[in-house]
Amino acid sequence: MNLRILVLLLVFSSCSHMNGGGSKALHPDWSKAQATGDKFVVSTQSERASQAGKLMIEQGGNIIDAFAATSFVLAVEEPYATGIGGGGFLLFRHAATGKVVAYDFREQAPAKAGDKLFLKADGSVDAERSKTGAHAAGVPGLVAGILEIHNLYGRLSREKVIKPAIELAESGFKVSSGFAYTLKESKDRLSKYRGSRDLFFKNGEVLKEGDLFQQKDLAETLRTISKKGRDGFYKGKIAWATVMYLHKNDGLHTISDFVRYRPKKRDPIKGTYNGYTVYGMPPPSSGGILVQQILNTLEGARLGNGMPFDVDNVHKTTIAMQTAFADRGKYFGDADFIDFPQAKLLSEDWAAEHRKLLDSKRALSADEISTAKGFPKEPDHTVHFSMADQEGNVLASTQTINGWYGNAMVVPGTGILMNNEMDDFSAAPGASNLFGAYGSAANKVEGRKRPLSSMSPTLIFKNGEPRYALGSPNGTRIISCVALTTLNLVEYGMSLKNAIAAPRYHHQWRPDELWVEPYFPTKTKDELAALGYKIQEKTWGCKVQGVSWSPGKLSAVADPRGSASALGL
Ligand code: DON
Repeated sequence: MNLRILVLLLVFSSCSHMNGGGSKALHPDWSKAQATGDKFVVSTQSERASQAGKLMIEQGGNIIDAFAATSFVLAVEEPYATGIGGGGFLLFRHAATGKVVAYDFREQAPAKAGDKLFLKADGSVDAERSKTGAHAAGVPGLVAGILEIHNLYGRLSREKVIKPAIELAESGFKVSSGFAYTLKESKDRLSKYRGSRDLFFKNGEVLKEGDLFQQKDLAETLRTISKKGRDGFYKGKIAWATVMYLHKNDGLHTISDFVRYRPKKRDPIKGTYNGYTVYGMPPPSSGGILVQQILNTLEGARLGNGMPFDVDNVHKTTIAMQTAFADRGKYFGDADFIDFPQAKLLSEDWAAEHRKLLDSKRALSADEISTAKGFPKEPDHTVHFSMADQEGNVLASTQTINGWYGNAMVVPGTGILMNNEMDDFSAAPGASNLFGAYGSAANKVEGRKRPLSSMSPTLIFKNGEPRYALGSPNGTRIISCVALTTLNLVEYGMSLKNAIAAPRYHHQWRPDELWVEPYFPTKTKDELAALGYKIQEKTWGCKVQGVSWSPGKLSAVADPRGSASALGL
């Protein structure tokens, strides 16, 4: 490693920012954000969830028992980010078979949904309808996904892996400052629905920091799931209560939508970079392909001087992001419903086309990349965790209810907060979603289709052995955060800790602006401005959780930008 890289790594390994800060010299608290282990490691943004995973291993369980327990605890602890009314993805390297498998337990549109769902009578887009209320909710996939995966690979009983979540819902916990903030911000939406008022309000006000948050109904629902398995959620009393409530609020969901919901096992996206093999999530996520497209475009371009913040390298990486996101806007949707040009997008010819733009001596506008239209907005949240064990089982899972508190509806008597994942569809060609992501007809609403996602659980291998598992929350920003962390590891040779701590930047083609974190190097920022980039300095919600694996050496790093919890055993 040359001296310049070393100096740079020392600079940003000692600085970061906590969420929402904006100061340029924040020092992360690494005390809970890194861990090593002989048997097992986990990184999340929640100590309770990490502990639940570790507990399963201590009780004689395996990594999938840990996955299930951690998922259910997160679903109880972070109702603003995830929940059993949501969905997610898992990328799993199964050591016994040596195979990498992708599980899609994404929400699904009700059968009756169609492409006019989010249009007003005059044909314009009704943006609120896809975010709040019954129409915003897809049929949840989380419970079906976790239980099916656990059934296939888990060692402990279903009751054991759900128990920590039931206990947490039953006993409750104190509302943290972050939780209180999201409640305050979401007060108006939540106040519209009785179930949400009952759960999140006290004396007419949303719960405050330090208040006890108990979810007795959710504990009972989880007990039913624990006893009956998926049928406890997708059939019978709970499913009927959910469907009736959605129906009463003008929803299109039927009991058949719930009964028929199935998670899907899919072939992961597989690509290479610099001798590493990178696995990602296929459609309905755009994440795996976009991360690989960014890598493919850059690999042939040779980021020669090894400096991650050299202006030329940031400029090229930004153009690689812009071209990949332009493709996202044009081609992507649920590949079970459209003619999706996956092979073309991942081909060397396609990368070579994109690579031609890298020689530009100035910033490129969205129109120079492509001609479609879109516009921005920005909220936060979702969860990601990564795990590894001594046998070489490695996993990355991202789970969500989409925006804060999903569609804002808690189904009375069940504790289930429904997602607003339907907003990830494109309401009309050219319309954009919560994350400013532009979409085409490829991602239009259709019955039983799954909305396009950016979630990017990623596994990285070298010489046939797993090395890293990664992922993050934060909508479209997930893709750039995961791509940059991957580049930091496989191009710039950083440690996992430095790769996660390094300042980030993001360009999603539209809007025509480059985001940089507050502690992004000033010199590079000035040089980028001189190239014509419209730069926004801001913090955003990516929290990359990673683990690294090599024989006999497991480590975990959770993003110190949040409430990191890395644990080892
Ligand atoms: O699937 C997606 O891409 C989004 N629904 C993820 C939402 C998310 O990450 C929110 N976090 N800030």
